[in-house]
Amino acid sequence: MKSELELLKIELDGILNASNDNIVVTDGKGEVLRVSSNCSIIYGRERSDLVGTTVSQLERDHIFYPSVTLKVLKEKKEVQVMQKTPTNKIIMATGIPVFDEKGIIVRIISFSHDLTEIQQLKEDYEQLRTKMLRYEYEIEELREKDMMTARVVMNSKAMKEINQLVQRVAVSDATVVLLGESGVGKNVFARKLHDGSERKEEPFIEVNCGAIPDTLFESEIFGYESGAFTGADKRGKAGMVELADQGTLFLDEIAELPLAIQVKLLKVLQEKKVSRIGSHEVKNVNFRLVAATNQNLEEMVAQGKFRKDLFYRLNVIPITIPPLRDRKDDINQLAQYYLSFFNQKYETNKVFNSTTIDAFHHYEWPGNVRELENMIERLVVTTATTMIYPSSLPFAKEMDALELHTEEWSLENFEQQGLSLQEVLQEVEKGWLKRAYRQYKTTYEMAGYLGVSQSTVVRRLKKYNINSK
Ligand SMILES: Nc1ncnc2c1ncn2[C@@H]1O[C@H](COP(=O)(O)OP(=O)(O)OP(=O)(O)O)[C@@H](O)[C@H]1O
Ligand SMILES: [Mg+2]
Repeated sequence: MKSELELLKIELDGILNASNDNIVVTDGKGEVLRVSSNCSIIYGRERSDLVGTTVSQLERDHIFYPSVTLKVLKEKKEVQVMQKTPTNKIIMATGIPVFDEKGIIVRIISFSHDLTEIQQLKEDYEQLRTKMLRYEYEIEELREKDMMTARVVMNSKAMKEINQLVQRVAVSDATVVLLGESGVGKNVFARKLHDGSERKEEPFIEVNCGAIPDTLFESEIFGYESGAFTGADKRGKAGMVELADQGTLFLDEIAELPLAIQVKLLKVLQEKKVSRIGSHEVKNVNFRLVAATNQNLEEMVAQGKFRKDLFYRLNVIPITIPPLRDRKDDINQLAQYYLSFFNQKYETNKVFNSTTIDAFHHYEWPGNVRELENMIERLVVTTATTMIYPSSLPFAKEMDALELHTEEWSLENFEQQGLSLQEVLQEVEKGWLKRAYRQYKTTYEMAGYLGVSQSTVVRRLKKYNINSK
C-alpha cells in the first residue's frame, strides 16, 4: 500500500509529464525541485541537468535568462519576464510564490509559454506594415501626380534632346541629378527615369527635402526603431531609404539636406546599407538614386553649404532642363495642351485669341511650365467669354508696350487711317506673318500654320522685311 504522500507525488509527476506547459518548481531558496517534461525541449537541457541546480546558476549559464524565480524571491509577488532560451525561443515566464502560514516563501512555481510564433507574427506584421507604408507613399505620389500619366509636351529641339538623353540614361542604374529653375519639369523627368528603368514595377519614393522639418530628417530618411525617441511611433517606422529598396529613391530639393544628414546619406550610398535610429540591425538596400535641385550645387560646395564628396557622388549624370523662356518653341504646344486639359476638366470650350498666344511668347515665365499651367487653369475658370483675350492676362499691362492690341486691326482703325483695300490687306498679311514668325522656328512650320507653301513664306517675309521677333 502506498502512502498518501507517495500517491500525491505520483499525481504531481503525472501532471508535470502530461502538461504541454513548461513548469518549473523550486524551493524557497531557488533550487529546482521538479520540471515538466516539456522543459527539456524548450531549454535544451535534460530534466536531470535542471533538477537540483539553483536558478542563479541556471541564470548564469543563460538557461533561465533572466530567471523569473529570482525576481519572485526579490519582489515576493507574482512576476512575469520574457526569456530567450538556449534553443533560441522567446518565452514569457510567469513566477508565482507559495507562502507558508508565516508568510515565508516555500515554493516558487513558474510556467511559461512559447512566444516565438507570436514574435514571428509580429515580424511578419512589421514587414507588412512597411509594405503598406510604401504603397501609401506611392498612392499619394500617384494622386498628386495624376498629371504624370498625361503627356510630357515637348516641341523644342532642346527638350527633345533632353528627352532622348533621359530615355537612354533611364535603363542604366546611374545616379542622375536633375538641374533647372523651379517649374521646368524636374519631377516630370525624375518619374520618366523611373518609368523607363527596369525598376519601374518597384516603388518610386519621392522625398521632398525642402518640406521635412530639420528635427525629423533623420527619422524620415533612415527610419527608427520602437522607442527610439520620445514622441516616436511606438511601433517604429521604416525610413524612405528602406522603402525605396529595389526601386528608385528620388531626393527632391537635395540642396535643402542638412550637412549632418548629408554625411549619413553618403555612407548609405557608399555601403548600400541602412540601419534605423536606435537599432543595431543593418539592412541591405538596393535603390537607384535620382536627385533634383534648383540651386547651384557647385556654388554651394564652394560656400561649404553642400558636401563635396556627396556632390561628386550625385553628379554622375547631371541633366539641366532649360527655363521656358529659353525654349519658346514649347510654349504654343504647352498652352494648347493645358487649354484642352482644363477645358476637359471644367467642361468648357475656351479658345485662345491668337494675340494671347503672342503674349505668351513675349512673357518671361519666371515660374516656367508650372506658372503657365496654373495661369491657363485660372484663365479657363475665370474668363467669362469663350475667347480668352490678352486683357485677361495678369501681365496684360506690361504687354501693352509690345503692341499686342487686337484693336490695331479693327475696321474702325483702318478707316481712321484712311487705308485703301490693298493697304488693309497688306497690313493684315504683314501682321499675320509676324505672328507666325514669332511662334515658329522654321519657315516650313510657318507654312504649315499659314496654309501656304514654304517658298511663299520666304518671299513674303522678304517683302515685309520681317527678320526680328
Ligand atoms: N514638358 C512638360 N509637359 C507637360 N507638363 C509639364 C512639362 N514640364 C513640366 N510640366 C508641368 O509643370 C509643373 C511643374 O513641373 P515639375 O514639378 O516637374 O517642376 P520642377 O522642376 O520639379 O519644379 P520645382 O523646382 O519647383 O520642384 C507640373 O505640373 C508638371 O506636370
Ligand atoms: Mg520639383
